[in-house]
Amino acid sequence: MKIMVIQGPNLNMLGVREQNVYGPMKLEQIHEQMRAFAEQNGVDIEFFQSNLEGEIVDKVQECLGDADGIIINPAAYTHTSIAIRDAISAVALPAIEVHISNIHAREKFRQKSLIAPVCAGQITGFGPFGYHMAMVGMIQILNEVKAMREMQQQQEASQA
Ligand code: DQA
Repeated sequence: MKIMVIQGPNLNMLGVREQNVYGPMKLEQIHEQMRAFAEQNGVDIEFFQSNLEGEIVDKVQECLGDADGIIINPAAYTHTSIAIRDAISAVALPAIEVHISNIHAREKFRQKSLIAPVCAGQITGFGPFGYHMAMVGMIQILNEVKAMREMQQQQEASQA
């Protein structure tokens, strides 16, 4: 089981940028905690950050055949990117959208997500802990998918 974590523009500046909104934690620290939790649960995990929309589209596409689920904070592209939305839709892998701040309590232009409708769910406003919540959610989804597949295989085998 492998989870791909995709981080959008300016998230490499966490710990420096607007600490009153995003807190003091650096992206590497968030990723260390996620890696530890993945290890505890026997899950493979990979991290990717880019400030470029096309690179994020490429990474989502690369998930096909490489990852089982995507945890994504598209950052500012959340509110603008049809391309990232289409890529998530195209690969048809379970995806969870994460925001450190509560986008619904912020400026009007941040309250709309173009990405959320193609995701299993959105976690917003819990700070860096939201990434942990997303991992718990993703592991649950992937276990359910696995159980469904196994049940289908058993049914097919018994009908053969
Ligand atoms: C963000 C919220 C976005 O509106 C913003 O552009 C970001 C970070 C968040 O994690 O709270 O860069 O995605």
